[in-house]
Amino acid sequence: MSSQIDHLLTENRRFAPSPEFAADAVATADLYAQADADREGFWAEQARALHWHTPFSQVLDWSNPPFAQWFADGELNVAYNCLDRHVEAGNGDRVALLWEGEPGDERRVTYAELTDEVKRAANVLRGLGVEAGDRVAIYMPMIPEAIAAMLAVARLGAVHSVIFGGFSADSLRTRIDDAGAKVVITADGGYRKGRVSPLKPAVDQALADRGAGPQGTVEHVLVVRRTENEVGWTEGRDIWWHDAVPAASGEHEAQAFPAENPLFILYTSGTTGKPKGILHTSGGYLTQATFTNKVVHDLHPETDVFWCTADIGWITGHSYVTYGPLSNGATQVLYEGTPETPHPGRWWELVEKYGVTVLYTAPTAIRSFMKLGRQIPQQFDLSSIRLLGSVGEPINPEAWMWYREIIGADAAPIVDTWWQTETGSIMVSALPGVTETKPGSAQVPLPGIGVDVVDDQGEHVGNGNGGLLVLTQPWPSMLRGIWGDPERFVETYWEKFQNKGYYFAGDGARLDEDGDVWFLGRVDDVMNVSGHRLSTTEIESALVGNEAVAEAAVVGASDETTGQAVVAFVIVKQSYLSAHEPEGLADALRKWVGEQIGPIARPRDIYIVGELPKTRSGKIMRRLLRDVAEGREVGDTTTLADTAVMSVISAQVK
Ligand code: PRX
Repeated sequence: MSSQIDHLLTENRRFAPSPEFAADAVATADLYAQADADREGFWAEQARALHWHTPFSQVLDWSNPPFAQWFADGELNVAYNCLDRHVEAGNGDRVALLWEGEPGDERRVTYAELTDEVKRAANVLRGLGVEAGDRVAIYMPMIPEAIAAMLAVARLGAVHSVIFGGFSADSLRTRIDDAGAKVVITADGGYRKGRVSPLKPAVDQALADRGAGPQGTVEHVLVVRRTENEVGWTEGRDIWWHDAVPAASGEHEAQAFPAENPLFILYTSGTTGKPKGILHTSGGYLTQATFTNKVVHDLHPETDVFWCTADIGWITGHSYVTYGPLSNGATQVLYEGTPETPHPGRWWELVEKYGVTVLYTAPTAIRSFMKLGRQIPQQFDLSSIRLLGSVGEPINPEAWMWYREIIGADAAPIVDTWWQTETGSIMVSALPGVTETKPGSAQVPLPGIGVDVVDDQGEHVGNGNGGLLVLTQPWPSMLRGIWGDPERFVETYWEKFQNKGYYFAGDGARLDEDGDVWFLGRVDDVMNVSGHRLSTTEIESALVGNEAVAEAAVVGASDETTGQAVVAFVIVKQSYLSAHEPEGLADALRKWVGEQIGPIARPRDIYIVGELPKTRSGKIMRRLLRDVAEGREVGDTTTLADTAVMSVISAQVK
């Protein structure tokens, strides 16, 4: 890590905003001063950009930290803000979604059409008994109905839990059960990598075979027909979207709900084996998602074509596909498939075809394109692009420069945006047109956001030093808790700096001489693979769930393309070895993890070893395994119970 830090700190390229960009930029430098002068007043002003059925009189209630309430006596309807208000303002004919399926089919959905679809879907859900506060699971491909489903749930004041379509039936079941979902909305399948990737069968599997656990809560499954693959059908439970939604009434008046009404739960990996259901509420979340999308992505809804490439299964898809852009009345591209299908220039073809002006994507994608070579994007006309964004993991200066030069014609500003599922919206980023940018640094807290880098005692480290990133003030789109586990919420984020009242993000960071923030990756047992959060413990539990495995240790090893890669060290049971040949076991275990959690969790490497490095108290020293996985000299082993174990492991890995 230290060589990487040194390298980063010698980065001295700077890019000042161009006067032309600055002249028309949404963000202005005085936002910082406004927020500094009156932080709550600043957020109240941003909140007033939304439509409130009942205006709020109170901004922040922080009387019971860390449980915040924002705009608590105000009432609004999130879906109304994303849909009806644009139609009522005369923008019903504006295209909301420029959708493209992986096979090349297209749909343009206007605000009026999307509003109509959502009203009907809300009526269908209401008919299925969904009421305010009920949970609805959504397990869908990237099709317009997925967004309509989220908004229909929100419109009813109910709570959605979107589960990424790449998760297994098992992961789906855990999440459905944890939230106690009443309805699941899914599709027969979606197109990925040129093939049908079925979804409904995983839902059927998740709902069948409920083991010894409690009876499931799911009463109905609403199914969109997308890929026309054969699907199982449970009469009375399953309903086709295309039967129910068009037949439902198109009349649905959006009711007002309190600002703190829960909007969604989104599961993310923590340091334990059990994913956390991060809870977000309505008014504060929508305020900050809308504001950040506007100022960080310099959104001009009348002229821009925005494209955030994230799946709706992740927080980026929630805030910058569904809620931010639609609340702002923007036009955006929605693409179903993978970047390399049917050819490696597919994304650039879409940029050219739809005239994308603002592109927001992850460093992993940029690094994969870099590897393929600049000749691929250069076959397309990318001249519509005027702003680029990065999210999900640190972006190395090389990838930043490539992004700027090859995709941004050496002119488009880049915003490297740091945030988390828990923060709900962007927290640290340059403001385009205002901030001079630096390749590799996410830079500065947004106006109204309190960020610091501190030591273990919570003391500011000062410029030129590294430490832990904390958020020093409550913010509107902050998580309101972990679903069903208030203690874990306090413990995970607030206990460490309890004396200061800081939120502990779990990220290492460094301040440079200008006070700009450089993110250095997680400081806990959370890995970041291709911008996706994975827990070492969760993958270890999956591995030991296999009959062959006695013990497992998982580490995130640095990887040129994916940022980090999952590497597992596994001890095989004697009983298994006496009855089976070990050949092919590593492959079988990779596949097993894919089935248990989802393909994104599949280890890149699995090493079968005889022992694991443990301290005298039995704690696995992952740091040493990471040294082996990254091909480095193994570090200090003096705290190991058996100091010889690392040389045995290194030999076995070789
Ligand atoms: O480690 C940080 C990294 O991603 C984590 C949050 O992951 P998740 O909740 O899945 O949300 C990802 C999309 C917002 C953070 O704790 N991370 C996110 N953005 C950046 C980043 N690391 C460095 N630079 C970023 N821009």
